[in-house]
Amino acid sequence: MGPRYLLTDSPLSSLQAYCDIGGGEAFEVALKTGPDSVIREVIAAGLRGRGGAGFPTGEKWRSIAAGGDDVGSRYVVANGAEGEPGTFKDRAIIRHNPYQLIEGIIIAAFAVGAKDAFVAIKASSSVEYERLAQAVAEVELAGWLEQVSLKLVRGPEEYLFGEEKALLEVIEGEDPLPRHAPPYLYGLFSATPQLGWSVGPALRGRGRAPASSNPTLVNNVETLANVAPIVRLGAEWYRSMGTPESPGHAVVTVSGATNRAGVAEVEFGRPLREVLDEIGGGMPDGSTIKAVLSGVANPVITRNRLGAPMSYEGLSAVGGGLGAAGFMVFDDQTDMVSVAYGVSRFLYIESCGQCPACKFGCGEITSYLGRILEGRATPHDLEVITARLQTVTDANRCGLAGQEREVISSILRAFPEDVADRLTGNGSPGPPPSIGKIVDIKDGVVVLDDKQQYKRPDWSYDDSPVIISRA
Ligand SMILES: Cc1cc2nc3c(=O)[nH]c(=O)nc-3n(C[C@H](O)[C@H](O)[C@H](O)COP(=O)(O)O)c2cc1C
Ligand code: SF4
Repeated sequence: MGPRYLLTDSPLSSLQAYCDIGGGEAFEVALKTGPDSVIREVIAAGLRGRGGAGFPTGEKWRSIAAGGDDVGSRYVVANGAEGEPGTFKDRAIIRHNPYQLIEGIIIAAFAVGAKDAFVAIKASSSVEYERLAQAVAEVELAGWLEQVSLKLVRGPEEYLFGEEKALLEVIEGEDPLPRHAPPYLYGLFSATPQLGWSVGPALRGRGRAPASSNPTLVNNVETLANVAPIVRLGAEWYRSMGTPESPGHAVVTVSGATNRAGVAEVEFGRPLREVLDEIGGGMPDGSTIKAVLSGVANPVITRNRLGAPMSYEGLSAVGGGLGAAGFMVFDDQTDMVSVAYGVSRFLYIESCGQCPACKFGCGEITSYLGRILEGRATPHDLEVITARLQTVTDANRCGLAGQEREVISSILRAFPEDVADRLTGNGSPGPPPSIGKIVDIKDGVVVLDDKQQYKRPDWSYDDSPVIISRA
């Protein structure tokens, strides 16, 4: 592995400490070479978005920069919501080196022509807020923010806060409900009406002020933290690490059944098993890994697939996915129907209900899984689950419904013996594992958001854990 460039050994204490290791040089390169050249370099580097989908970052920048003046103002948003269960990487980056993230945002704004930028994090991420507020004050004093304003936005706990279309709503002061059109088509503070599923680039209404679509660049915190090293050291340097389709390093989180939980910077392409062992410190004596989930967004990875390379293409080739590289490990004692229930419950609770098939389908799937877990189900219940998995994504505005389909169907397919055990009342499944946000990782121990179990499907909270199960 080449030298780490995302997570320093210890947190940087000041902007000066960042400048001592080359901080600020990338922005100077950008100013010298110009926006087009920066975008070309990011495209050549092959940087892919670390928010989950792995979308090519430079191509996204190019589409935001295109369109001339007609499209209105452009904005940049750094997505630090980090609501994906099993991940703690964005907060680790902010804690270690907020300056590199800020330099990435400044370069992104320069490249796409934005004058305003935002970093969005959860209101509960107070350590990260303090860290960022201090860093913003320092870079402002140093004159780094002469061309772009940078504001911190503190958002709600909801999972959808991290979904890019909901994120823009939150920045505009609304609830985290995904809007129809994606940020590159319908950005921040746009007054253009959304026209069904699409939006006009610039609607100049009769007798009304011109309204523009304001294309907005939304990138994950880790994605933006990659930018300054790429611009400073070049695409060739970046491509000397990782694999051709997944160049560079990823910041990986490991939690669950391993000896410890942790976050570390890892070169793409190493076998997943090795990465889990290294960060997780191996498994406790006598236990082995049964399955791994990357957040609640990708199909399950079974034990026999752990030799696959940890990369976008490596994990999708074995039917899984990299997602946000937050790996939750389950041991051989785990009942995977319980895991399916835990994931489905999480997604059902967090679904906003704007698309009826999503809220209804996630609810039905969860409650039938609940009945299977309680040993009261018939094979017919499994048929209902299969049918709902087919329709849950109907007319969906965001990716949450697709996650329900991917994760739950993959678990039921991969572990038919666990399903059969629950249907026949064989053995006892034990309590479902907690699936929820990581609040912190301290000395190798994960602190999970314990409020999640009290959360109701309408986002209010009960006094006791909310069990979803069909009567
Ligand atoms: C339900 C849902 C939750 C999401 N949560 C996050 C999140 O917490 N952080 C994040 O960066 N992206 C999240 N995403 C992905 C964002 O919508 C978006 O794709 C990403 O921020 C784009 O940045 P990237 O291209 O740098 O990956 C979520 C997507 C969905 C469907
Ligand atoms: S797919 Fe689900 S979570 Fe996404 S907007 Fe529709 S109802 Fe809300």
